[in-house]
Parts: sequence; structure tokens; C-alpha cells
Amino acid sequence: MQGVLRVPGDKSISHRIAMLASLAAGTSTVRGFLRSEDCVTILEALKRLGARAEFTGEELRITGTGGVFKRPDAVLDLGNSGTGIRLLAGLLAGQGFITEMTGDASLRSRPMRRIAEPLVRMGARVDLLGGNGCAPVRITGGPLHGIEYAPPMASAQVKSCVMFAGLFAEGVTTVVEASPTRDHTERLLTAMGIPVTIDGLRVSLRGYGAAGPKLQARAWTVPGDISSAAFWITAAACREGWSVDLPGVGWNPRRNALVAVLQRMGASIVFKETADSTACETMGTIRVEGRRLRGTEVGGAEIPDLIDELPLVAVAGALAGGRTVIRDAAELRVKESDRIRSVVDNLTRMGVRVEEKPDGMVIEGAAAVRGGVTVDSYGDHRLPMAMAVLAMTADAPVRMDDIACVNKSYPEFWNDLRKVGGHAD
Ligand code: S3P
Repeated sequence: MQGVLRVPGDKSISHRIAMLASLAAGTSTVRGFLRSEDCVTILEALKRLGARAEFTGEELRITGTGGVFKRPDAVLDLGNSGTGIRLLAGLLAGQGFITEMTGDASLRSRPMRRIAEPLVRMGARVDLLGGNGCAPVRITGGPLHGIEYAPPMASAQVKSCVMFAGLFAEGVTTVVEASPTRDHTERLLTAMGIPVTIDGLRVSLRGYGAAGPKLQARAWTVPGDISSAAFWITAAACREGWSVDLPGVGWNPRRNALVAVLQRMGASIVFKETADSTACETMGTIRVEGRRLRGTEVGGAEIPDLIDELPLVAVAGALAGGRTVIRDAAELRVKESDRIRSVVDNLTRMGVRVEEKPDGMVIEGAAAVRGGVTVDSYGDHRLPMAMAVLAMTADAPVRMDDIACVNKSYPEFWNDLRKVGGHAD
């Protein structure tokens, strides 16, 4: 494996910019917006709420509603996107109408009480129509008041939902986090002129009442998604002689913990910042050179900073010498699949010795990775991509079925794999 890859735009940032630009007055331009199924889905939902969105070449133009959404004429389908449904719920809680949101079977099995509870405390009515605390979600918007809320789990989606609702509330809304989580919402709101106060684990903003904030359209550049770069970072890091350069990747301290984990496993990874005045966050080139790695332990406050990369920590653990332990990661069980079960199952199929734990797993390396087997995507976009990284080291081809799910976040994944010398057909 060798080469240079430009990974697609950041999924979390693309979602948030789409939502905030849809509320703003005027037309925002967005370079680097992620053109994946999840992000097209959120754009379609925002169009139904009154925004306009169209691509001109590589640039996305979003014309906002000037502050108030229009009542949608049908149920909003958020597909597979947890970020889409949970963050939009926050914005809809303060609107003067009823909205129903649903999604695919995976999204309809994921917990929504975590957003319903704070939104109800703020004054909205939220009905979870799927039973068992799941979508469809019906939101009856209305006058909101600020609250202080400490989510029981570390979740940027819950934090962002509450802050978005807080924009339409009277008074101050504060989220007190259990552990710091990705802070894109705070950064983007600040960039749009909304004062956000951060004091340790407390994030606060003063609401603008039912009329909401007066946001102005602007130009944005979305950095490359480090969670997509992560597949190539891990692939190159684990094998002596392999290397990759990844330009234009976002480098947010709450998102780059995989790099720190791989470095302590012995990897050679260097980040070099590049200047881009329209970029909403730091971006630059990540250069990786392969080394023989050793196992490590991840847990505690590190987990939220690498939550989407934990399948890759397991893959790196399989290729590293010694034992790798992942703990405190029970949140993985409520992702697009139960990512503890699905990773353990697939690693086992590929000949890796791995033990499932309630909140993580223990992986014994360095495994001789077995080809000639079939892995299961579980319909979860990150699974086949993480397993492809492991399959690149297998002694024979690995078969994967139901791989269209990678289109949720990284439609070019298989082409990119070929570009760096991998084989996929
Ligand atoms: C996200 C937050 C994380 C992450 C997800 C995107 C976001 O979810 O796993 O892929 O954009 O805020 P949680 O908030 O459920 O941890």
C-alpha cells in the first residue's frame, strides 16, 4: 500500500453546516460537503422544511429560510443518519408545528429517549412512536425554556440537539458533559456569531426565544473526514513498508485520538497543517509510515474521542503484537449496528482471537489473518471498510456481501482502496 488519497468531507460537520445554513438568511456556499447517502438525506429533509440546496459542480449552495422552518408536508425520512434525526429534533422542538421523523430499520432501532428527555424538559412534546424509546419521533414544537442538562452518556449528538433547541429557548441552556465529546456544534455556532460559553465540561448559550437567532449565510469549507481517513491511517500504520499521505483532513483534538492510540502502539504518523481561511476547522496532511505495532489499552475519557474508530482499534490490535483491550465503550452497542458484536463476529471469522465484553473486547495479536472467508457487513457502513483494512493483510481474498452501506459515508471507498494498491472486485 502506497499513495496519496483525498478523503471525502467530514460527515458530522456537513450535517451541521447543512442545518445551520438552512436556518440562515441568504445563500451559503459549501466546498467539500460530503456527498454521501446520509448527507443527501439530511439535505432532502431540510428542503422539505423550506431550504433550497443544489450542487454546482463541487460546490453546494444552500439558501436558508431566514430563521423559521416551514411545516413539512410529509414525514421526514432521515434514512440511516443518527446525527440527522437527533440534531434536527433539537431545531424542530422550538418550531410552531408538529413534525414526524423516521428512518431505516437500523435508525428505528436506536435509542431516542436520550433526546426526548431534555427536549421535553425544555417544553416540547416528543412522542416516540416506534415503542421501546425508538423512532418514528413526533415532535410538537412550542415555546422552550433553557435548562441545565447532564446527559447520562457522553454524546455529541445529544449535546448538539439540546444546544440547537437552546437557540429557540428563553434564557440560558447548559449541557454538562460526562466526558468531552466532539465540539463541531460549538465551533460552528461561534463562527456564525452565536456566543457559546465553554467552562470545562459545561457548554452554555443564551437563547433567542421562539424567533430564533438571526444567522447570516456565508462560505464554508468542510475538511476531509478523519473518520474516513482513519481506514487508510490504520491500514498503512500496521504494516512495515506501507505508507500513505492524506491531504486536507480535519484535525480536531476531539476527533484525532485514533492517531494518538496508534502512535502509542508504535506507529509513525505526522500531521502538517495547511492554511485555508475558509476552512471551519484546522486541516492538513496526515503522513503515515508502517511499523510493527504492539498492543494497547483504550478506555475512559479517550473513548468519545475515537468512538467511530474503535472498529479500527480492534483491527490494529489484531495486527499488533500482544494484547489490545477496549473498555468503557458500551455506547458501541447502539451505533448503526451493535459494533461490539459485529466486530467480534467478523474478527473471529478472519481467524483473530477476540473475546467479547459487555463494554468492549480483548484482542490477541498478532493474528495470521485468514482469507477465504465471508464477512458480514451488518448493513453498517463502517464495518465493511474496517474489515477491508484487515482483509488487505489476509492470506487469501475475503468475501463481503451487502457492501452498498459504505455509500452512507464514503461512496468512493472501493476506488480509493484500489488507488493505494488494494484489490477489490
Ligand atoms: C456524531 C456523534 C457520535 C458519532 C456519530 C456522529 C455527531 O455519536 O458516533 O458518528 O455528529 O455528533 P454519539 O453522539 O451518539 O456518540
